[in-house]
Amino acid sequence: MLRVGIVGCGNIFTMHATSCDHLPNATLVGVCDIKKDRADAAAAKYGVQAYYDYKELITPEKVDVVHLCVPHYLHPIISRYALEHGVNVLCEKPMSIDYADGEANVKLADEKGLIYGIIFQCRYNDASRFVKEQLESGRLGRIISARCTLTWYRPDSYYALSDWKGTWDKEGGGVIIDQAIHSLDLANWFIDDEPVEIQAHLANRGHSIVEVDDTGEGFIRYKNGATLSFWAMNNYGCDDPIEIRLFCENGKVVMSYDDAVITFNDGTELKISQEDDGIVYEGGKDYWGFRHIRQIENFYNAVENGVQPDITGREALKIQKIISEIYRVGRENFN
Ligand SMILES: NC(=O)c1ccc[n+]([C@@H]2O[C@H](COP(=O)([O-])OP(=O)(O)OC[C@H]3O[C@@H](n4cnc5c(N)ncnc54)[C@H](O)[C@@H]3O)[C@@H](O)[C@H]2O)c1
Repeated sequence: MLRVGIVGCGNIFTMHATSCDHLPNATLVGVCDIKKDRADAAAAKYGVQAYYDYKELITPEKVDVVHLCVPHYLHPIISRYALEHGVNVLCEKPMSIDYADGEANVKLADEKGLIYGIIFQCRYNDASRFVKEQLESGRLGRIISARCTLTWYRPDSYYALSDWKGTWDKEGGGVIIDQAIHSLDLANWFIDDEPVEIQAHLANRGHSIVEVDDTGEGFIRYKNGATLSFWAMNNYGCDDPIEIRLFCENGKVVMSYDDAVITFNDGTELKISQEDDGIVYEGGKDYWGFRHIRQIENFYNAVENGVQPDITGREALKIQKIISEIYRVGRENFN
């Protein structure tokens, strides 16, 4: 039985704690939050010990795995602490704000022989897996162009109620690093090649109460000639489905939220929709998707068997490099 600790008992905590609760080879032993009321409520709900200082929870005497569900700027700091102290880390996205911090922790995990994983649960959606299989089988041929659109609504209160969202130093950006990172990761995973050119424009058009981007658009060219265009905003009037489209040599893919339709050039059509696994995540939000449990299961199995999980820190560096470059370029012309 793996002993699990979770640091950060805010919004996303439920996806991690409920998943741990449903998996047979792990047991939650402690939760931590600097907000005492949150740690106490989470501890009472799961019948575990509450901690208010992560250093008291993260020790190999207490836990084998720590999940990090804290603000972005703390991801590399607490990951490093856990890895230095001999504890495997499963960290929410993004692995860091600065690429170099993520890279340093990948090296540290290797040196220490520990497992370091980053959450990108959308890769575990039925549609994502199906599209990836079709691409890997060669049936769709090479991706020529891909595009991602995200048009969501985050009211001012979303930022006003948070003590870290909407800031460059603690969130590291806005719609790109926080929301669009998932669809960009999926498209990048599908294309599976090396970006050679990244153009980006970032703006804040609808959230004068914060300093970061609520709009981002750009273009990525890959070594193999594929292109990825993206457009993301969280100043739209509602949360419309995220869309990812792939134009491939032998057909087209349209993914809308968790559904996908593949139309081959010969007219054959394949469709896939997400199956409900029946687990209730109290306080969970539909737009997160409900596939954290699949990635967490993969991570626990990897730790148990001493192998690498699907989405290692090294794998997450691929999208981290893109996100960092989007901000480097996009902040030059930010308006
Ligand atoms: N994968 C997804 O789809 C998804 C969805 C939502 C959030 N997230 C990610 O989850 C992470 C947390 O987001 P959230 O919305 O739950 O934020 P949140 O603000 O609701 O929760 C963060 C919690 O961390 C606590 N915290 C801050 N500093 C701490 C410290 N030093 N030690 C212990 N606890 C500390 C805060 O008090 C807070 O309760 C972020 O990385 C976010 O991007 C991922």
